[in-house]
Amino acid sequence: MTGRPRRPRTASAPARILSGPAGGALAVILALLQPARAADPPEVAQPCLACHGGTLAEGAPPVAGHSNNYIQLQLVFFRSGRRQNEIMQGMAAGLSDNDIRALGRYFSSLPVPDTPPPPDAQPDLTRAGEGAAARLRCAACHGDAYQGVQAAPRIARLPEAYIAKALGDYRATRRPSSGGAAMTEVAGTLSDAEIGALAHYLAVLP
Ligand code: HEC
Ligand code: HEC
Repeated sequence: MTGRPRRPRTASAPARILSGPAGGALAVILALLQPARAADPPEVAQPCLACHGGTLAEGAPPVAGHSNNYIQLQLVFFRSGRRQNEIMQGMAAGLSDNDIRALGRYFSSLPVPDTPPPPDAQPDLTRAGEGAAARLRCAACHGDAYQGVQAAPRIARLPEAYIAKALGDYRATRRPSSGGAAMTEVAGTLSDAEIGALAHYLAVLP
């Protein structure tokens, strides 16, 4: 019988100690001594951070700081295909209900990103958007500072192109709306010009 060549011993000193007889107990003690970090991403959230982490991928909105309920609902909508987006439908297809709960818990536990507003190169468009938002009473559901209330999410300072796309998607019913179909109703009558102005106004809010 020819023995297989022994594996080269590349393990570091601590790894050798931890794999020794007392290692199990030592590993447990070391784990207990780690400071608790509430915001450690669960494994299922790792692939998400490539697009929704500190730097947002093109077209991807921030997810951090939305309510647990809102995040879970959107993932369920993507998984069922009722909210249409090629990337996110692919990402959500394999998620279990437990994965969705863990993702909602994790992303809602993160602080709202405190990115400064982009410089406003079109103040006239901002004023038009402000007027449209007042006339259409967007703040009645989203809150005076558009930071979100109950089912209505934070919409202040999301990327301009994302807001415009979201409103267009609601209008075209490519995206369902929670909250008694609130957004399907609201967006149904918006013109392209109103969508452009609203998106700009909300994106540059101080
Ligand atoms: C390759 C980039 C990419 C990856 C990876 C990705 N996303 Fe997304 N995500 C997007 C884009 C783009 C959108 C916008 C979809 C749209 O326009 O409707 C989005 C939208 C979302 C939304 C809706 C946000 C809102 O404000 O309504 C949630 C929630 C979300 N993603 C969660 C996740 C989670 C959880 C993961 C990991 C399982 C993930 N995403 C992985 C690109 C990505
Ligand atoms: C009757 C309540 C109500 C009113 C009025 C309302 N919204 Fe909403 N809005 C909601 C709810 C609820 C959602 C979450 C819908 C979902 O599940 O996708 C939402 C979602 C959104 C989103 C998607 C955010 C994201 O991260 O994808 C945008 C953008 C938005 N609203 C903009 C507006 C604008 C602009 C107005 C005014 C023209 C407005 N809303 C008026 C209730 C409302």
